[in-house]
Amino acid sequence: MTVLIDADVTDVIGHVPRRLFGSFVEHMGRGVYTGIYEPGHPAADERGFRRDVLDLVRELGPSVVRYPGGNFVSGYRWEDGVGPADRRPVRLDPAWHSVESNQFGLHEFMQWAQAADVEPMYALNLGTRGIQEAMDVLEYCNHPGGTTLSEQRRANGADRPFQIRLWCLGNEMDGPWQIGHKTADEYGRLAAETARAMRMIDPGLELVVAGSSSAQMPTFGSWERTVLRHTAALVDHISLHAYYQEIDGDTDSYLASAAALDGYIRATAGIIDETLANLRLDKKIGISVDEWNSWDLRRWNDVDSARLAAEGWQQRPRIIEDTYTVTDAVVVGSLLSCLLRNVDRVSMANQAQLVNVIAPIRSEPGGPSWRQTIFHPFRLAAASARGSSLRLTVNGARIHTTQHGEVDIVDAAATVDSGHCAVFLTNRATASATEVRFCVRGADMSLADAWTIATPDGLTRHATNTAESQPVQPTRLAGVTAASHHGGTTITAILPPLSWTVLRLGGRDA
Ligand code: AHR
Repeated sequence: MTVLIDADVTDVIGHVPRRLFGSFVEHMGRGVYTGIYEPGHPAADERGFRRDVLDLVRELGPSVVRYPGGNFVSGYRWEDGVGPADRRPVRLDPAWHSVESNQFGLHEFMQWAQAADVEPMYALNLGTRGIQEAMDVLEYCNHPGGTTLSEQRRANGADRPFQIRLWCLGNEMDGPWQIGHKTADEYGRLAAETARAMRMIDPGLELVVAGSSSAQMPTFGSWERTVLRHTAALVDHISLHAYYQEIDGDTDSYLASAAALDGYIRATAGIIDETLANLRLDKKIGISVDEWNSWDLRRWNDVDSARLAAEGWQQRPRIIEDTYTVTDAVVVGSLLSCLLRNVDRVSMANQAQLVNVIAPIRSEPGGPSWRQTIFHPFRLAAASARGSSLRLTVNGARIHTTQHGEVDIVDAAATVDSGHCAVFLTNRATASATEVRFCVRGADMSLADAWTIATPDGLTRHATNTAESQPVQPTRLAGVTAASHHGGTTITAILPPLSWTVLRLGGRDA
């Protein structure tokens, strides 16, 4: 049966923010050390940044990168990472049972962000620290000069202020695993007072208050209500974190993870609206999905964390280096489509993480770097989604999933930008191809190209990319046709089983 998808170029959900394609670098495992930074590596530049990894990051195309954590940040002292590298302290990182050398810190991150052409998003420690340290790091980063902290930055080599605009008020403070975990009231008060003090220094900041670490948290909902009651007047975004995995071979549910993310976003949006109305506040608060990805959390909880504890305190241990499959890439593609469908509420999103740690890019110490399967949907979406996200009507077969109820066989999103259109399609049918007819009114377009991520010939949906071989790549989708009709366009495509596809259309005269 054919799936029919209708769109009209004038019927838009909202503008696609570039920040939707953000990423995340945490001092965790090998995300920084032997990930983005490895002095002595044959590809390292004079600052120790791996050029091979930087090239892959630029190709991936993240717009904004969150740093330095994650759980790490809740026990971190930012001052440890500035000044002469040989005088920086070596410390325990209790969050990841690791040893932190502090050879990479604020200045290195800002230089790396410039080299990678990404906007920095800085997370503050509201676990063990508070208002004073937040004010200090802000003054250090953004004040031009003439004060002790800003002069210290200049003496440390950054004459001009970093001008960091985006700040996270702590990380996952609802989680009992978080260092300095707080109740919603405790955190809400601290976040509000931190925000107030920071705005006294720099009123132009964008502040992200921490929402829930997952929709399964018992406090989800009540946490947001309480925290927003304290902070709504003072913040611009509230975060949510969302990780998905295949449980007990239930592939159908895993492939429908976007339905769960969709519900999580809409529920959070409802709480924002309710709180703003109760407080009679006429403003917008965006949702910052500032950690999302596929992550085999059960393996981390059941196996890796025990191994980490048994191996003792080490620098840059190998942790959560998930090797992604075709199925994971398709799920990541559909999560990106879900973010695109929610641009009326989602102001930014950060895939967690960037290199080695549940990441699209992998690298070996002293060795190669390569693209994981999930690299490809991110790159294609970041490069193709432009302008406005279109409201779509999808009519076609649906499947029943144990975890998410009924979902469309084909999950869809589309964007339009001055005569160009990109259509993102996930075929959730694992064993059969699905025909799709996409009709867009108000634009006469032709097909520019069509790329799909599906199971490579001769392999299974469990195929992965490794240092030695990368069989999972986007391939051109053959047989896609485009026809004009009364100022509109109909595209017909046959989507391979279990696949994520992007169709790119351009103006007929283009
Ligand atoms: O991204 C890995 C971890 O997941 C982060 O440190 C934490 O914020 C989340 O629980």
